[in-house]
Amino acid sequence: MRRGSILTLIGIGVIAGGIATAVAVLLPWLPTPSSREAGRIDFVIWFVIVICIVIFAIVAAAMLYSIVRFRAAPDDESDGPPIHGHTGLEIVWTLVPTALVTAIAIVSAIVLSQNDAQGKDVLNVDVTAQQFAWSFSYPDAGGYTSPILRLPKDRSVLLTLHSKDVIHSFWVPEFGQKQDTVPGLTTTLHITPDRLGTFPVICTELCGLGHALMRSQAIVMTPAAFESWLAKQTKAAGSTSSGGTAAGKTVFADNGCAACHTLAAAGATGKVGPDLDKLSTYAQQAGQPLESFVRQSIVDPNAYVQPGFPKNVMPQTFGSSLSKSQLDSLVQFLVSSSKKG
Ligand code: CUA
Repeated sequence: MRRGSILTLIGIGVIAGGIATAVAVLLPWLPTPSSREAGRIDFVIWFVIVICIVIFAIVAAAMLYSIVRFRAAPDDESDGPPIHGHTGLEIVWTLVPTALVTAIAIVSAIVLSQNDAQGKDVLNVDVTAQQFAWSFSYPDAGGYTSPILRLPKDRSVLLTLHSKDVIHSFWVPEFGQKQDTVPGLTTTLHITPDRLGTFPVICTELCGLGHALMRSQAIVMTPAAFESWLAKQTKAAGSTSSGGTAAGKTVFADNGCAACHTLAAAGATGKVGPDLDKLSTYAQQAGQPLESFVRQSIVDPNAYVQPGFPKNVMPQTFGSSLSKSQLDSLVQFLVSSSKKG
C-alpha cells in the first residue's frame, strides 16, 4: 500500500470520527446526571460511545476510500478477482470485537454492583403508584405521606415500590434509572441523589387515560433542610389525625386526587376527571343527595359517570383502599368545600 493511500485513509477516518464526536458531544442527548448511580451509568454510556466512534471512523474511512478509489469504469463489465479467505484478517475481526464486548460487559457489571451497594444510614421511602398519581411515604417519620418526593443529598435512598392497580413505572430522568411498579409485587430502587434541585417524576409505562399526566416532583434538599422538613411533617401528621375536613384534605392530597381533579379548596387543577367544585350540580344531575352521591362516586365510581367523562378511569379499588375514617373525612371535606363553592 502506498503512503499516500494510508494518509488519505487516516484523513477520512479523522473527519468521520470528528463529525461523530461533534454529534455525540454537542447535542444534549441526556439530562445532567443527578445521582451517583446516574453518574456511573453515564460513564458506561461514554465508554461505549468512544468505542463506537473509533469503529465508525475505521469503517467509514475504508468504505469511502474503496468507493472512490476502486469504483468500476462506466464501460467495465468484468468481474472482480475471486477472493478466498484471509485467516489473519478473520482472526483480527473476531478477536477485536470479542475483547471490546468483554470490556463493556466487565465495566457494566462493576457499575451494576456499585449501583446496588447501599451506603450507611439508608433512608427508606415507600412509593405507591395508582391511576394516575404517585404518593411517597416515609416509614421513619411515622408514615408521613406526600404527593411530592423529597430526598436528602448524598444519602442512600431505598425506594420500595407498590402499585394499587396496574403496572406503572417510576422514572426520574436525572437519576438515570427506571423501575416498574407491579400489582402484587414489591420492587425496589436504590438512589443516591448528588445534586440539589427539583426534578420530574414521570410514569413511564402506559397505564391508562391519565398516563401522560401521572407526574410529580423529586426535590433534592441539603441533609439539614431535609431533616428539619421531615421533623415538621412528622409533628403535623400527628396533630391532624383527629378527623374532619382537615383530615379529608390530607386524604385528598396524599392519594394524588389532584392529578385528575380540580378542587379550589385543595388548590387542585387536574382536568382528567370531573371538576369537584361542581359536585352540587353533578349530584342534582344524578338526582341524588350530595353526601350519598359523593360517597357512591368514591366507592363505586361507575354507578354514575358524569356525561363527558369516560368510565373506568377513576380507580375502582380506591374506595376500598381507604379506612372507614379516611373515607368519612374525605366525603366530609368534599361536601363542605363544594357547598362553599
Ligand atoms: Cu402510571 Cu403511566
